[in-house]
Amino acid sequence: MNSDLSNSPPLRGGLGEAFLDKLSESKKIVFFTGAGISAESGIPTFRGKDGIWNKLRPEELANFNAFMRNPQMVWEWYNHRKKIIHESKPNTGHLAISEMQDLFDEVTVVTQNIDNLHRRAGSKNIFELHGNIERNFCINCRTFYNEELDFANGVPKCKCGGLIRPDVVWFGEYLPEDQFEGSEKAAVLSDMFFVVGTSAVVYPAAGLVHAAKRAGSFIVEVNIEPTEISSICHESFWGEAGKILPEIVKAVKSNNR
Ligand code: OAD
Ligand code: ZN
Repeated sequence: MNSDLSNSPPLRGGLGEAFLDKLSESKKIVFFTGAGISAESGIPTFRGKDGIWNKLRPEELANFNAFMRNPQMVWEWYNHRKKIIHESKPNTGHLAISEMQDLFDEVTVVTQNIDNLHRRAGSKNIFELHGNIERNFCINCRTFYNEELDFANGVPKCKCGGLIRPDVVWFGEYLPEDQFEGSEKAAVLSDMFFVVGTSAVVYPAAGLVHAAKRAGSFIVEVNIEPTEISSICHESFWGEAGKILPEIVKAVKSNNR
């Protein structure tokens, strides 16, 4: 259903009875998030009008061969993104998800984002499918270097001499197994599975929506526009995550009263 909350009657009416009834019975909920949830924090998304991949080529930046060819350039790009992320703050969408932890038995965040904003918002149970820009590791011996790196003498190197890279998943690389397995388990055990701010075109991450649906979870999409997986969702809310998610928190609270 379409839910432009600014024009809707408050709470129950605005969100739809079937959704709220299902939500009130739900014990385990999952939030599967993408770049759209951080858009309102000022972090650009990948696709769409001002998307990163409209201007830059992933083959030249988010790719291991590109890194080996030109580690300096790849690092410049990641340091630029890191700066934007450090200057940004979790928004009302991230905070609403964190608040849900007090309202349900189990809340799991499965994110494709590397920006660490869910953690900064206070979410505890987080799976990071595509890594985290706050971490780095040596490509030789996999020692982690999570402190601020020094670029004064070029691309930082490990004690062993190997290049240090950001701990993010690049095109053609496997997702961290423990993170994916944990996400899959949470997806199939969930009563309700929210798909928030993702175009749901990058696999295997997007496969979690199908896995949750097959297992019988109630699928709810929150996005500013329809996506590849909209047709399989039980409910869709069209609008900004930073507006819709706090409305859902409010509705749950008033329901519990
Ligand atoms: P995309 O950029 O593909 O999609 C962002 C989605 O967010 C779009 O569907 C937008 O309509 C939606 N959106 C934008 N602003 C929003 C808002 N305020 N509220 C709600 N929705 C909003 O980003 P992802 O789906 O996260 O992979 O992309 C998936 C992966 O592709 C990323 O993790 C990255 C990228 O290549 C890697 O780096 C491995
Ligand atoms: Zn090393």
